[in-house]
Amino acid sequence: MTDLSAGTSPLAPFLAPAPRPHEKPLGFFSFVLTASRNPIEIWGTRAFQEPVLRNDWLKTPTIVVNDPTLIRRTLVDNAANYVMQPLRQRVLKPILRDGLLTAEGDLWKRTRKAMAPVFAPRNVAGLARVMADRSESFAERLAGRPGHVVDLSHEMTLLTYDILQATLFSDDITGEPAEFARAMDVFMAHMGRVDPLDILDAPSFLPRLGRLRGRSAARYFRQMIAETAERRRRQMASDPASAPRDLLTLLLECEGLSPSEIEDNIITFIGAGHETTARALGWTLYLLSQAPHEREKVERELDALLPGLPDPLDWMDALPQTRAALEEAMRLYPPAPSLNRMAVEADRVGDLDVPAGASLLVMPWLVHRHELLWDRPGHFLPDRFLPENRAKLDRYQYLPFGVGPRVCIGASFAMQEGVIALASLMRHGRFDYAGDRPPHPVQKITVQPRGGLPMRISRRAG
Ligand code: HEM
Repeated sequence: MTDLSAGTSPLAPFLAPAPRPHEKPLGFFSFVLTASRNPIEIWGTRAFQEPVLRNDWLKTPTIVVNDPTLIRRTLVDNAANYVMQPLRQRVLKPILRDGLLTAEGDLWKRTRKAMAPVFAPRNVAGLARVMADRSESFAERLAGRPGHVVDLSHEMTLLTYDILQATLFSDDITGEPAEFARAMDVFMAHMGRVDPLDILDAPSFLPRLGRLRGRSAARYFRQMIAETAERRRRQMASDPASAPRDLLTLLLECEGLSPSEIEDNIITFIGAGHETTARALGWTLYLLSQAPHEREKVERELDALLPGLPDPLDWMDALPQTRAALEEAMRLYPPAPSLNRMAVEADRVGDLDVPAGASLLVMPWLVHRHELLWDRPGHFLPDRFLPENRAKLDRYQYLPFGVGPRVCIGASFAMQEGVIALASLMRHGRFDYAGDRPPHPVQKITVQPRGGLPMRISRRAG
């Protein structure tokens, strides 16, 4: 563990709001209710103290792995023994179908290999300029409303949506963009809804009412995506040089993916890659608003360096303080808080037996706040992620993008987008929290602030 007290600001670090862990285990009904409303509230104090624990809340036992060595052992060395957990698949598969996030076995292997070129460093680097242009104009517009209070969480969703559709489709979507955005909103709001029936393992023929609306939005959405892809396919055939080098073109160039698999993966990119980044940005700006000395460090870095960095591709390495704030926010509020697997065969993890069929949970939410792994785990201390300190972290104690073969394929895209967007937003504006009480984090696939993030805007530069 790195002691971060030496050489840092004398100001007390900010304790990030989070549900208080229970001293005593929850009863069965309270567990089911809490798990369906806000799963991060089910945890007791031991979950933040033990290297590994077993819970027998439901009919299948759940092993929760917090220890970095054991995480490596399960999700990397013995990854083949741990498939995606059936509950997660039940929630996501009807919408994402054969997309990479929900694919398994040979389909997953073939798709992952086929899609590797899409996120190759050269291709991600090629998207930096578009990311910066979109972020800059968004930041200028937002900063042009000084004194206004906006829901920054929602604003970040608009920004990352704009960046995603620009890098994915280059604005070239069939149909009305506003209608497309509305369908996507409904789709996103319903996609990850975990119904109490799912937790109880009820048969899939029982309707999960909350997801029905999401399905019709998904149908509409899929049709527009199919038409957009078809039009691009024709363009690439008739005049290849005119097709933009965006994610859609890169996906259509992948060998061995059928048209419906391509659609599934576009929907997967939208589902996996838009809200996650938005949550990371929202929480970063909230945390910085509560730690003005940390915010000043980032502002100083941006003011000193950005004028000399015309190419946004250089920002990732040249702005360590900005990047550290984003990484620390993703530690405290990991946008994807839970990696859920099921053991195919019996295994042993640390001192615990893992029976075949057991659930295995690796929770960035717990690992990132674990008392054995972090100095002042609940506090916002971005300096932990400055290069000299970051090098001392165990690879398996910080997992915002997961680990092992199923690590996020969009991680470098997301980091590049996050740093560029944060730098643009903070260059132009300053955001101060204007809520009456601290935001409460809620797990709904991503970790989001309940009721949004009311923030007051002031203008900085530009
Ligand atoms: C801050 C932003 C993001 C975070 C925190 C994040 C997090 C994650 C995590 C934790 C996983 C692994 C899930 C597991 O093992 O169960 C994952 C997988 C995935 N992510 Fe991301 N992600 C982000 C952005 C993106 C973006 C921008 C894209 C695409 C444009 C993307 C596409 C995917 C896909 C396709 C997978 C499935 C990979 C596989 O199973 O082989 N993600 N992401």
